[in-house]
Amino acid sequence: MKLTYYGHSCFLIETGGKRLLTDPFITGNSLAKAVDVNSIRFDYILLTHGHPDHVGDLETVMGNNPDAVIIGIWEVHCRYSAKGYKTHPMNKGGWWTFDFGRVKMVNAVHSSSFPDTSFAGEPVGFVLHTADITLYLSGDTALTLDMKLIPMTCPKLDLAILSIGSNFTMNYQDAVIAAQFVECNTIVGCHYDTFGFIEIDHEKAQHAFSEKGMDLVLMSIGETRSF
Ligand code: NI
Ligand code: MN
Repeated sequence: MKLTYYGHSCFLIETGGKRLLTDPFITGNSLAKAVDVNSIRFDYILLTHGHPDHVGDLETVMGNNPDAVIIGIWEVHCRYSAKGYKTHPMNKGGWWTFDFGRVKMVNAVHSSSFPDTSFAGEPVGFVLHTADITLYLSGDTALTLDMKLIPMTCPKLDLAILSIGSNFTMNYQDAVIAAQFVECNTIVGCHYDTFGFIEIDHEKAQHAFSEKGMDLVLMSIGETRSF
């Protein structure tokens, strides 16, 4: 599995022979100025919720990838299918088998609305199970005991992408507990540093994980890694 970071909560996950983009928000992120949003090619988008820092570039990237499918909760599907995009609706607790692997939509404790503040259903996370990897994408969430259900109901995780920036989501201290709840030792951080509310000390964050025998990977924007 290849993972490319485009800043904030936007990743390109290459797995199961397909390209999956998460929460496109690039042009509004001053840290991601070097990323060429128009060059991004993908087959699916995983949308965790409707907030502007997750859908800011959705229409731009879908315009460049008109055959791509948006995977989101029912209300996200309703909004974007009405705009003519291809969508796959899910809801929390459900699995679906796509051509790249299986996806489970899981709970996230946060809020959700579209940029015009209209109702966007509820925020979600995802578990992906492909031939290459089992991966948890937390989305924007508080630490929640529901995370303990993931190892009870999903294959063993290889990787967890956790929000760590505090103010709007878990801080890294809570994300250490989240990693213990989901039983995963390799963590990629997201939703930090983008704006003043969520700036973190990278060394302290990585130390908090290494103290518990876990590895926190903080990718550079534009960087690609294999997991
Ligand atoms: Ni949010
Ligand atoms: Mn957010």
